[in-house]
Amino acid sequence: MESAIQSQKEAHRSEEAMDSEVSKLGSNLITKFHVLIRISQIYDSKNVALQQFIQESLHAMNTFIQRKGNLCLKIVADDIFLNEQRLRYSVESFNSFKYLLTQWKKRLIGEVLYKEVLDEDTLREFIYILMGLEEGREENATLFNEKLREHHISSIEVGPLEVSEREEGAYTLEKENSQEVAKKVFFETIGTVKEVITHIKGKQHADMRKLKRLVRKAVNLIMEDEMILLGMTTIKNYDEYTFNHSVNVAIYSLGMGRRLGFSRGILSELGITAMLHDIGKSKIPLEILNKPAALNDEEWGLMKKHPLMGVEIVLNLKQLGEVNPKMVIGIFDHHLQNNLSGYPKLFSKRRMSLFGRIIQIADAYDAMTTPRIYKKIPYTPEQTLAILLKERDTRFDSTLLKMFIGLVGVYPIGSLVLLDTHEMGIVFKTNPDPQNIDRPQVILVERDVEGRGRMELMDLAETDSGGRYRRNVVKTLDPNKYHIDIGKYFLRKRED
Ligand SMILES: [Fe+2]
Ligand SMILES: [Fe+2]
Repeated sequence: MESAIQSQKEAHRSEEAMDSEVSKLGSNLITKFHVLIRISQIYDSKNVALQQFIQESLHAMNTFIQRKGNLCLKIVADDIFLNEQRLRYSVESFNSFKYLLTQWKKRLIGEVLYKEVLDEDTLREFIYILMGLEEGREENATLFNEKLREHHISSIEVGPLEVSEREEGAYTLEKENSQEVAKKVFFETIGTVKEVITHIKGKQHADMRKLKRLVRKAVNLIMEDEMILLGMTTIKNYDEYTFNHSVNVAIYSLGMGRRLGFSRGILSELGITAMLHDIGKSKIPLEILNKPAALNDEEWGLMKKHPLMGVEIVLNLKQLGEVNPKMVIGIFDHHLQNNLSGYPKLFSKRRMSLFGRIIQIADAYDAMTTPRIYKKIPYTPEQTLAILLKERDTRFDSTLLKMFIGLVGVYPIGSLVLLDTHEMGIVFKTNPDPQNIDRPQVILVERDVEGRGRMELMDLAETDSGGRYRRNVVKTLDPNKYHIDIGKYFLRKRED
């Protein structure tokens, strides 16, 4: 019995390893491909400048083909599948994914199969035939295959975009809406935070202007519709906790700042402070940050220094402009507690700064709702709020905590709820009416006849002709138990 379980476990582990191998190779391939297509738009096919990019793509593709026998890229809805496996968006590859999806969908190409290892000329022809296709022409896939044969290429086969995907294809071509902008700002900001932190670590020049520019964009989005960016905080399936966490903390902080009536200028300062709140951790060895077991006294002592180390780093960042005292104190304060029992220890008692109090709540909420190496199954949003509420006054500023709950809702955005209609819903938008704080808008988790997830939005404040609510929340559910990837619902378009 035990050995059966053991071998099952091993099979599972090797499956996981394979999945992650495909994902890694896939992300690399998509990024390389993206660059190559872009470059091909600038130069003609004979240009030598192209050579290096063709080689890089070829290397990525052929490595894969040699390992797996072939390489098949297929578009299903807004996803790219590599040999039957859905590729995850990663921070760095998000723009490449988006670009490839758009270009293929425009040309109604949905699938490409590379049957054997390719050479330079074959890939070159392939790219130029692809990009030369007229947009929106029904026969593109057939034409594509014919052209490949004309060039004596039999190792590549192309398939059309499936009819059911075309509507969504048309969607992608629409003018960008706020949700698209939010997605872009979110991913770009994570990428930039990563760049800044990596550069600071390597003692290189960190481009703070770019970060400032993105924060200003985030501020504009929050002013326009706070819910859109808040939804992004549910996307937690990255390996890169630190960068994802920094951006989420900034989003929650901006949401609170907006409700406090901060000006755009102050909001930008708050956003930057929140993004850099854990910058001091860049000086702590990864073995300590990612240690699965409890920290020993010495490690914990070092960990407690990160707010102070953060202050030191920020004071040395010359191009941040005038480093604002509010920002410095905000970073210093983010692990102090309301009763000043946190860290660092203060020499003289004073009240925690407002930036510090805001970031502290956002920080605790995001950390608890995100899976970590030492806590693989995180708390649900509802459990987290209950824990935070227990510590109001001692640890948190209770007025700000109340405001935070108003922001994320009684059923916070991203909660999975069971409705009295036996449907499951994901909280998408909280209800702005304080009387109806328990009646958010939810996305119904359901599948159509083909088994594809639908994105139907329901307003739980909706009543029937008799004035009765059509749907009520019965209880919240743990999405981990139902294997539901909540973040995915916030990346997709809704049918409304
Ligand atoms: Fe921290
Ligand atoms: Fe943090």
